[in-house]
Amino acid sequence: MKELYLNAYAKINLTLDVLRKREDGYHDLETILHTLSLHDGITLREASRGVTVICNDASVPTDTRNLVYRAASLLQKTFGVERGVEIEITKHIPIASGLGGGSSDAAVTLLGLIQMWKLRVDRRFLIDLALRIGSDVPFFLVGGAAIVRGRGEQVDPLPPLPPTWVVLAKPPLEISTAWAYSHLDLTAIKRRPDTPAMQEALRAKDLLRVARLLCNVFEELVIPEYPLVGEIKERMVRLGAYGAAMTGTGPVVYGLAPDEETARRIATELASSLEVQVDVTKTFAEQR
Ligand code: C5P
Repeated sequence: MKELYLNAYAKINLTLDVLRKREDGYHDLETILHTLSLHDGITLREASRGVTVICNDASVPTDTRNLVYRAASLLQKTFGVERGVEIEITKHIPIASGLGGGSSDAAVTLLGLIQMWKLRVDRRFLIDLALRIGSDVPFFLVGGAAIVRGRGEQVDPLPPLPPTWVVLAKPPLEISTAWAYSHLDLTAIKRRPDTPAMQEALRAKDLLRVARLLCNVFEELVIPEYPLVGEIKERMVRLGAYGAAMTGTGPVVYGLAPDEETARRIATELASSLEVQVDVTKTFAEQR
């Protein structure tokens, strides 16, 4: 196999709860994630040695800061692989947005290189490697809809939503994940997600109920700091979204729309009235 092409899908958090701070400095989470059809492209090309990363977006670092680079070199070191790889990333998922693009790129790189280098990797060990790259990486080994717990390593699949139109709006803000976790006051959170009810709503394929149950505890930290995030959320609902929420630690806000026409109208109106970059996509669950 000389070359392998893979799609790396974005995700949204339908719920996101932070339960407690752990002794290792990370936090125990409980979050329901869903992949979207919006994706980056990852092309893996055999090379004689080393790891080279190239990307169509010049703002993406291609050195050890890139999670794809870390995924490839971690596999090489762990399994003593002498062959190399060139990895081309075609970016479509906005970076540093809460949509998990870097983590998804890293997860498919792990899966692709295991195939290309014909490695035998035990499932639990693979999850462990993924977690060393980032807390969201284990989820992307599976994708679809899932409830994720622990630091991000416990991934239990849920029935995915039927394809649902999603509007994405990205305000011109950069929110550091480490900042968000360290400033979240766990004792002061007023509204936490009803995770069992969201699982039930997914099982019942009840989109309206899913939309009503969207909840992310980081909104209570981010919205007072960046009111634009709250304004986008409110405006999405006023324009006809069934529900809207921030994804991850932000700053992207997504809205679930009843149909394509409404989704596109919401996107156009948001882009003409607020300082946001918009995108229209759908929920999607790949068969892996
Ligand atoms: O694992 P990842 O590199 O994505 O995490 C980025 C930062 O987010 C961590 O350094 C930590 O501050 C915070 N984090 C956390 N608990 C998690 C996931 C992330 O505290 N479960």
